[in-house]
Amino acid sequence: MTTPSPFNRTLLRRIGQLLAAFAAAVSLALIGVGLSQALAASDIGTVDPVAPAYQVGQALYLERCTSCHIGVPPEVLPRETWQILLNETDHYSTVIDLLPRFDSQLIANYLHTYSRPHSTSALLPFHVRDSAYFQALHPAVEFSRPPTLRTCASCHAQAEAFNFREWQD
Ligand code: HEC
Ligand code: HEC
Repeated sequence: MTTPSPFNRTLLRRIGQLLAAFAAAVSLALIGVGLSQALAASDIGTVDPVAPAYQVGQALYLERCTSCHIGVPPEVLPRETWQILLNETDHYSTVIDLLPRFDSQLIANYLHTYSRPHSTSALLPFHVRDSAYFQALHPAVEFSRPPTLRTCASCHAQAEAFNFREWQD
């Protein structure tokens, strides 16, 4: 290894400072999001607690994936379904933008942590009404019509607020 020339050393120090400033800005932003999430969750009290490590991922998920429909709770679909949905622009009857790589990674970590692998021989479900996990969460519920994202709120009055802990039959 050769010793860096004074010019290189100054340059390296500048790059180091820039990286440190960037890291500080990112962690401040993350702390801000995490804090507001934690406050929001403790305000509601009925929403499933999300571990701090996944709160940024959840916030990004709700920001990116709830502009057209309610947020779909991760546990109602298998992990493999989420993986495919996050990587495709062909989205049901519409076209969506691919998520920026960094967001996509954090969202995937959150969704994968709160869902489980597809474990039956049935086809991978892309609708909650076809999902064994959705059915397992509704063991005794009788649906008068096949559930869709537009009908969740008929029983879960707080579905728009991503709260599925409250329900009425
Ligand atoms: C541009 C609008 C739009 C955006 C943004 C969007 N979706 Fe959708 N999504 C739709 C439409 C339209 C459907 C099909 C109709 C319906 O069920 O409401 C759908 C259906 C779904 C379904 C199937 C639900 C079911 O049981 O039928 C899932 C799951 C889903 N979206 C997840 C996501 C995820 C994850 C994201 C973020 C990466 C996302 N959506 C972003 C428009 C959108
Ligand atoms: C006909 C009423 C009804 C509809 C429609 C309905 N649910 Fe539910 N849901 C319930 C009931 C009742 C429970 C509690 C079941 C139990 O614990 O036995 C429940 C439980 C859940 C849970 C578990 C909550 C927890 O933390 O314990 C989730 C998640 C959920 N529903 C999501 C959804 C989604 C997403 C939709 C729309 C696709 C939906 N539900 C539509 C009645 C309904």
